[in-house]
Amino acid sequence: MTYKPLLADADMQALLAASPLGRGTARIAYPVTGDPNVVIKEVHLEFPGANFLEWNVWNAVKETVLKDTFGECFSISMTGRYMIMERLDDLVPADYPNSPTAPAWVGDIMPKNFGKNQAGVIKLRDYAMLSLEKVLNTPGGPSDRAVWQLRTIQQILGRAP
Ligand SMILES: Nc1ncnc2c1ncn2[C@@H]1O[C@H](COP(=O)(O)OP(=O)(O)O)[C@@H](O)[C@H]1O
Ligand SMILES: [Mg+2]
Repeated sequence: MTYKPLLADADMQALLAASPLGRGTARIAYPVTGDPNVVIKEVHLEFPGANFLEWNVWNAVKETVLKDTFGECFSISMTGRYMIMERLDDLVPADYPNSPTAPAWVGDIMPKNFGKNQAGVIKLRDYAMLSLEKVLNTPGGPSDRAVWQLRTIQQILGRAP
């Protein structure tokens, strides 16, 4: 099945099956009737931040070498309350050694945050906790934007390299 990347809350409600697969502090995951490859994650708190965060992380990694480490996100609802993610079923202890190594900025690395898809590939399924200071607090050279601004100023002054 393919899903439009942005759906109404009501479209998501119509897709999700009655009995949940699992529940966490922020979300409940439901199977989708007729599609064994995805789940719908519903935020049960007032603020739907967990889904927004995962959606943003997925969009940041999906064209990088990290893409196979993270459960694929297919669609989010207008309010962020619902999100469609690749279905990643619970691991058994024999799977643990085959779990991928997650980047240091993933905040919550534990077996239950990984799952296995229909093809047997193990990925992160809960990546809404991040240690962003690990990437944001990195000293380094000027940002791409700072370099671009300096070039623009040099061009205005007629001193472009
Ligand atoms: N992609 C998924 N496939 C299958 N089950 C999932 C998936 N994501 C989450 N779950 C189930 O739903 C539970 C809650 O989801 P989780 O992402 O851990 O939310 P929370 O942010 O509340 O911790 C998980 O513990 C797991 O049982
Ligand atoms: Mg969780």
